[in-house]
Amino acid sequence: MDRKTLSTMAGPYIAVFDSGVGGLTVLAQLRKTFPKHSFLYLGDTARVPYGTKSPTMVIRYALESAWFLSRYPLDCLVIGCNTVSAVAITALKGAYPDLPILEVINPGAQEAVETTKNKRVLILGTEGTIASRAYQKAIHSLDAEIEVFGIACNLFVPLAEEGILDGPICKMIAQEYLQDALKKDIDTIVLGCTHYPLLRKVIQEIAGENIQIVDSAISLAKRLKTSFALSEQEKPRLRIFTTDLPHRFMKIASLFLEENIEEPTHIDLEAMFYAAERREI
Ligand code: DGL
Repeated sequence: MDRKTLSTMAGPYIAVFDSGVGGLTVLAQLRKTFPKHSFLYLGDTARVPYGTKSPTMVIRYALESAWFLSRYPLDCLVIGCNTVSAVAITALKGAYPDLPILEVINPGAQEAVETTKNKRVLILGTEGTIASRAYQKAIHSLDAEIEVFGIACNLFVPLAEEGILDGPICKMIAQEYLQDALKKDIDTIVLGCTHYPLLRKVIQEIAGENIQIVDSAISLAKRLKTSFALSEQEKPRLRIFTTDLPHRFMKIASLFLEENIEEPTHIDLEAMFYAAERREI
């Protein structure tokens, strides 16, 4: 995409990015909360999952996504990915000090603190998010008495990316991940990965109806409303970019966003980023 195309694009936008389809759970909530705003969404489907990769790789990928989106006029950049929020927020804020950036972990932690009655909370997240202990830190900064448990549920991400959101395979995997933690008298589960709300029904079924489930997208939308000045548009627009071919993404996106969306634009993010570094574009 050349500079001319970019510069003629309307905006400003609220930009959301994730490793793949997961950030759509955030986008869907934001679209409901801000129906008169324009959105950009970037899913790095070529390199998903992020959750099993090292912080160094996740930071690199996140900087590339932020670079791509920051070439558009933006009201703010939303990190629609817990793994990126957990390991790359400092690098992103350092690289874009003037860009309002919102992450998903603090809103989710706040919601968990407000939800738990017995102060026993379980975080489900990727390996990267759980290893970072970002949720523990965020929850303890609000209430040090809350006991926080964490489970890395790596198989949930490929299930969501494949669009396998229910049925016996999902149930068996959810049961396997949750069975020990459910003996710990927790009353709140945080879906600490934006892919997991796609599997919420199964997770709730295995956890039982007495356990409250926190999806940080809702609290993030509330926080966004009060944090930044956002511009309403006469003709709000949604543009989606993916780093791999978009057909599978498209299937899940239309299912989840419950609206007809434009065909996503495929971009070679890595090539564009390094060409820009060499000042070729
Ligand atoms: N959806 C992302 C998250 O919230 C990342 C999942 C992955 O790519 O492993 O952590």
